[in-house]
Amino acid sequence: MKIKNICCIGAGYVGGPTMAVIAQKCPEINVTVVDINDKRIAAWNDDNVDNIPIYEPGLSRVVEEARGRNLFFSTDVEKAIDQADMIFISVNTPTKTYGIGKGMAADLKFIELCARQIARVATTDKIVVEKSTLPVRTAEALRNILDNTGNGVKYQILSNPEFLAEGTAVDDLMNPDRVLIGGDIDTTEGAEAVEALVDVYAHWIDRERILTTNVWSSELSKLTANAFLAQRVSSINSLSELCEKTGADVNEVAKAVGMDSRIGPKFLQSSVGFGGSCFQKDLLNLVYIAKSYGLNEVADYWEQVIIMNDHQKKRFAANIVKTLFNTVSGKKIGVLGWAFKKDTNDTRESAAIYVVDYLLNEQADVVVYDPKVNAEQVYADLDHLNTRSEAENRARVTVVNSAMDVTKDAHAVAVLTEWDEFKSLDWSLIYDDMLKPAFLFDGRRLLNRAEKEKIGFEFYAIGS
Ligand code: NAD
Ligand code: UGA
Repeated sequence: MKIKNICCIGAGYVGGPTMAVIAQKCPEINVTVVDINDKRIAAWNDDNVDNIPIYEPGLSRVVEEARGRNLFFSTDVEKAIDQADMIFISVNTPTKTYGIGKGMAADLKFIELCARQIARVATTDKIVVEKSTLPVRTAEALRNILDNTGNGVKYQILSNPEFLAEGTAVDDLMNPDRVLIGGDIDTTEGAEAVEALVDVYAHWIDRERILTTNVWSSELSKLTANAFLAQRVSSINSLSELCEKTGADVNEVAKAVGMDSRIGPKFLQSSVGFGGSCFQKDLLNLVYIAKSYGLNEVADYWEQVIIMNDHQKKRFAANIVKTLFNTVSGKKIGVLGWAFKKDTNDTRESAAIYVVDYLLNEQADVVVYDPKVNAEQVYADLDHLNTRSEAENRARVTVVNSAMDVTKDAHAVAVLTEWDEFKSLDWSLIYDDMLKPAFLFDGRRLLNRAEKEKIGFEFYAIGS
């Protein structure tokens, strides 16, 4: 079975980059990425390729090469579904905000809508690929909808979770540790569908790194991978607090521990807390699934990873208040970084949002700068928390276009995202511009303590 036409529903952080790379690497396959968000599609089609809606190093060049050749962005969802042999579902699966499982379970309404639309529109057999991160056994529900509401069309359902990280998405897609494909490998049709997707990836990835499993293992492996990664961050963050009490340095501990080849060095960077759209959502989902099977000890085990992350954000903010003589009321606090990590414009669940919310509750005046995040997004993130009125968020928070505007006349500066440009700021000039004592809080272990203390800063860094 050779795939000629791919449709991807969802032109977001996963659908966009993933399909751009597939199109670039498979010039003979037509790839159409569709979305109901017409603004997003218009941005993907912008004449100036630097205006695509997602900032990822290297992505605009990939889009430039393939767009218009075999990569298309469209709002005509039905046409793309009908023409495709293979349909990726790459829509959002946020945490439910209502009803059963509120605050924990993944909200699958967008997934279900896609399945119903495919069932309604399709006139030829399709391979449907779950690209979104889904609870284990979601494929069963998809199959139910497709087989019972369709018009005799045959479907194969595959699970092909995405492991890219934002900020390194293009590299991760070009050179993944592995590609995971789950399917009905025990049936001939299922095995053929799996093979068809393997063939797509084999255009640029060694077959040894393309793993095939049953559907349930694939679905669960994605949640497991994110849970393990988040757990490492919470593990090192829990020890950062102990380091601060004992004189140990968390970076030295992480290095010493990470050199054990059984542990490994990655994901041991202590921080103000993990953010991003997925770690917390996927952990909550895992906790919910475990609970729904009555596995309370399993649920409690994973829930602790989130509890520790919330604690880390809160104690960082509380330490700013405590250090500034127990009050930040009316004081200018400069915030460097709003994105949840460097090299992305994504702010979903960014630790910065929660730290600033805490400081606003303490009546601080906050000034924010992030190289890739605009004022509209900062306010939207704060408004979303519903802690105070939109007017008050705008009165208390100012978003500026340069780091130097953040630091001028500030009582304290906090580094909340590890953007490279923050390392090379003129920190002596910043010191001169700030009120004294000039407090500097490094939530990312980005800055050199000895240098900053020599300049005169009162320096605080996570885990030392
Ligand atoms: P996103 O919100 O950036 O994009 C999802 C897109 O789907 C939106 O543009 C939305 O308008 C569109 N959409 C929703 N319902 C639709 C419908 N019925 N028809 C057409 N379009 C529809 O989300 P994302 O970050 O790309 O994540 C998508 C999935 O991938 C999630 O399940 C997430 O957990 C998973 N994932 C994300 C990442 C990441 O780095 N962001 C990495 C791996 C996996
Ligand atoms: C993460 C996973 O790394 C991807 O494999 C996965 O595909 C993706 O989630 C997903 O399913 O959405 P992402 O959230 O984009 O990717 O970025 P990460 O690099 O994992 O960082 C997540 C958060 O943890 C960031 O806030 C980052 O600053 C923080 N982090 C990461 C640390 O604090 N310390 C570390 O050592 C690593």
